[in-house]
Amino acid sequence: MDINLNTPIYNAMKKHLAKNPVSFHMPGHKFGRTFIIPDLINVGQLDITEIPGLDNLHQPSGIIKEAQELAAKAFGAHHTFFLVNGSTCGIQAAIMSLCNSGDKLILPRDCHKAAVSGMILSGAVPVYVRPQFNHDFNISSVVLADNIEKALKENTDAVGVYITRPNYYGICSDIEKISKIVHSYDKVLIVDEAHGAHFKFSNKLPDCALQHNSDICIQSAHKTLSAFTPGAYLHVKGGRVSVDTIRHNLGILETSSPSYLVMASLDISRAAMEKQGKEDIDVLCERVKNFCQDIKDVSEYRVLSDSMIKSGTIDVTRLVINVMNIGRTGIEVENILRNKYNIQVEMSDLYNIVCITTHGNTSEEFEKLKNALCEIKLDFKKRSILTDICIEDIGIPEQKVDLKEILHKSFFRKSLLESIGRVSYGMITPYPPGIPVICPGEVITKEAVKYIVKIIEAGGNVTGVERDGTVLLLKGG
Ligand SMILES: Cc1ncc(COP(=O)(O)O)c(C=O)c1O
Repeated sequence: MDINLNTPIYNAMKKHLAKNPVSFHMPGHKFGRTFIIPDLINVGQLDITEIPGLDNLHQPSGIIKEAQELAAKAFGAHHTFFLVNGSTCGIQAAIMSLCNSGDKLILPRDCHKAAVSGMILSGAVPVYVRPQFNHDFNISSVVLADNIEKALKENTDAVGVYITRPNYYGICSDIEKISKIVHSYDKVLIVDEAHGAHFKFSNKLPDCALQHNSDICIQSAHKTLSAFTPGAYLHVKGGRVSVDTIRHNLGILETSSPSYLVMASLDISRAAMEKQGKEDIDVLCERVKNFCQDIKDVSEYRVLSDSMIKSGTIDVTRLVINVMNIGRTGIEVENILRNKYNIQVEMSDLYNIVCITTHGNTSEEFEKLKNALCEIKLDFKKRSILTDICIEDIGIPEQKVDLKEILHKSFFRKSLLESIGRVSYGMITPYPPGIPVICPGEVITKEAVKYIVKIIEAGGNVTGVERDGTVLLLKGG
């Protein structure tokens, strides 16, 4: 580690440790001494807690304040909060800060489940907008600025707009246009940029939402930067939302024992990106470009590229590889890559595999992935692939009971197959990508059940459906 880096949290931790202090405080492992696994001892030395000199995440006045200020400057925000409970708690706090019970929030239906839980907690009422659909890859694509504007016109009482950008497939809606429209209606824009913490540091990538004045922008630094899981940032820009209100809500949601390992890693990730982010991303983009060139010659695979997205851009570091033409599902290819080639991708769906790449991925690893895919396609399976099933058909299910009422209702279990026409109590979510097919209070449709069953049959993971095939339904619904 370059000790000259301006990393206030890490530097203070090292200084504290150098004094060889006697610890009669938590954590109980006492700098890792009680660990019986030697690998953990170095980590244990850095797993310290809020003692004088090491500041307090919930009321920062020293090193954490300084580190957050450095992050705000680096990302172009007016204020940055370090999050030790992932983007999830940042999204929830952002929605709670904007929406009082009954307030309308405009958002595309392909939002992460954290947004739905944020609306349950705040009592917000969703006004869903349908995102565009990319039929070549069978995935959700951008949300159109025009559709956001239409929703704003039809819901003049909405308090703001929430978008996910990029989505899990690296697809970015036109933030410049959306931001201008939302602000022209004097509404707040929250951007879930969980997958875009690296954007700010290279002009080879889409713009960061803060560059277009999003009011709140939440980024999972553990996904595309080098922070420990689940380190994330919540950035605030402009004066439309109160920093104090967000701090208050984070105080309700976040642990009172924040991890210094996570906080220091957020601090160090920022410093690393400032120091060498541009160069690292250049190296990565070159490796990705070479991979895409090579895989282009293998006509069975298609890699998602900018030209395939109308009214938006893509993050080139997110590899989305469509595998339909080899007669296998993405889930099957993910399993083969893992079991036969020792390669683990980020996620798969019925049609695609998705890789998160960073400069930590070597050229040899890209080569290994390419070679594995070339071998896999030789084992072509002649069968009609599942083109008959697509999430677009599900649309936006009817909301029978408001999200804010759900928490106080009773539920019972029933098999998914018998649940058609009933009101869901739970969130039924293929994970990843974590986008609910059915949200609490919504009527379960035949199309939704068909889609969920296909994913489970293909070996995918669906939270909200138990191993015995049951789901939670609203009593009396
Ligand atoms: C679009 C999106 N938003 C939010 C989240 C939640 O992020 P975290 O895991 O940092 O809580 C995820 C997680 O995968 C995500 O994909």
